[in-house]
Amino acid sequence: MRILVLGRTGQVGWELQRALAPLGELVSCGRSSADLTEPASIARTIAEHEPDILVNAAAYTQVDRAEDDADAAMRINTAAVGEMAEAMAARGGWFVHYSTDYVFDGAKADAYKESDATAPLGVYGATKLAGEAAVMAAGGQHLIFRTSWVYAARGQNFVRTMLRLARERNSLRVVADQTGSPTSAELIADVTALALKRISDRGPDEGPIGGLYHLTAAGETTWHGLASRVVAQAEQAGATLSCRTADIEPIGTSDYPTPAKRPVNSRLDTTKLRETFRVNLPDWRHHVDRTVLELVER
Ligand SMILES: NC(=O)c1ccc[n+]([C@@H]2O[C@H](COP(=O)([O-])OP(=O)(O)OC[C@H]3O[C@@H](n4cnc5c(N)ncnc54)[C@H](OP(=O)(O)O)[C@@H]3O)[C@@H](O)[C@H]2O)c1
Repeated sequence: MRILVLGRTGQVGWELQRALAPLGELVSCGRSSADLTEPASIARTIAEHEPDILVNAAAYTQVDRAEDDADAAMRINTAAVGEMAEAMAARGGWFVHYSTDYVFDGAKADAYKESDATAPLGVYGATKLAGEAAVMAAGGQHLIFRTSWVYAARGQNFVRTMLRLARERNSLRVVADQTGSPTSAELIADVTALALKRISDRGPDEGPIGGLYHLTAAGETTWHGLASRVVAQAEQAGATLSCRTADIEPIGTSDYPTPAKRPVNSRLDTTKLRETFRVNLPDWRHHVDRTVLELVER
């Protein structure tokens, strides 16, 4: 089985190279060999590597910048995704793709199910939602995992930013009225591998299990709750910090204005994923604690 991963330098793309390697012959490409702004580059990369499974972890992920850069976000998150999905449908292979909690407006009181109505608040969410539609329209075998609040020991993310700021500053002000589940790139990659293994192990009489799934860690917190956990864990691991958990002030979204609006409720219901693929999704603290330890011990 040949697996091609795009977005190799990203948080999820990096972890996919680890998690998918035991499943088959793995090739990973970055922007220099597969530039999603170029349709010819996508077609050439797929023709060259002839994958049975294409996993796309590349995306335009700068949520605020997308507000003023809609054409680029649309090209990378929508048009390119459609081209990849169509190419894989034509090959009869699988296309695996990632989407976001930002397809929702956050107005629902409970966690969002896959079947809930979407209503993105910004350009990023709108382009990701259109990307989902493009995958489905291509008509091939696919998995789309909507995830949220992604972090890893590498790359740009909230966990690393909080750790850096806690070293540099005496106090922090962090939004405490947005709720979601911090999800590690490791977990996303591991669940992707498990899902693909389950699919390849299925007998010919078993029904199709492709489609759209919500994939996050279990439990929920706020950005303030996450920052507090990061600082507490770092302190416990012996890091030298200027800021303690008591110095992290909870603030409202309105106190921290951003170009793109964020959903107040980012919680995703993962029942469909857990039941279909028989996976356990650990509490969000599990991977946060590991990541903080890894960062502090470097
Ligand atoms: N980060 C989050 O909080 C979050 C939340 C929900 C969903 N997601 C989704 O999860 C997936 C993985 O996100 P992530 O956090 O791993 O992203 P990330 O760390 O920001 O990485 C993005 C990747 O996309 C690549 N890329 C960007 N523009 C490209 C282009 N024109 N051609 C080729 N590659 C390009 C980047 O390459 P360079 O290194 O060359 O720039 C990088 O490898 C994405 O679909 C994202 O929408 C993320």
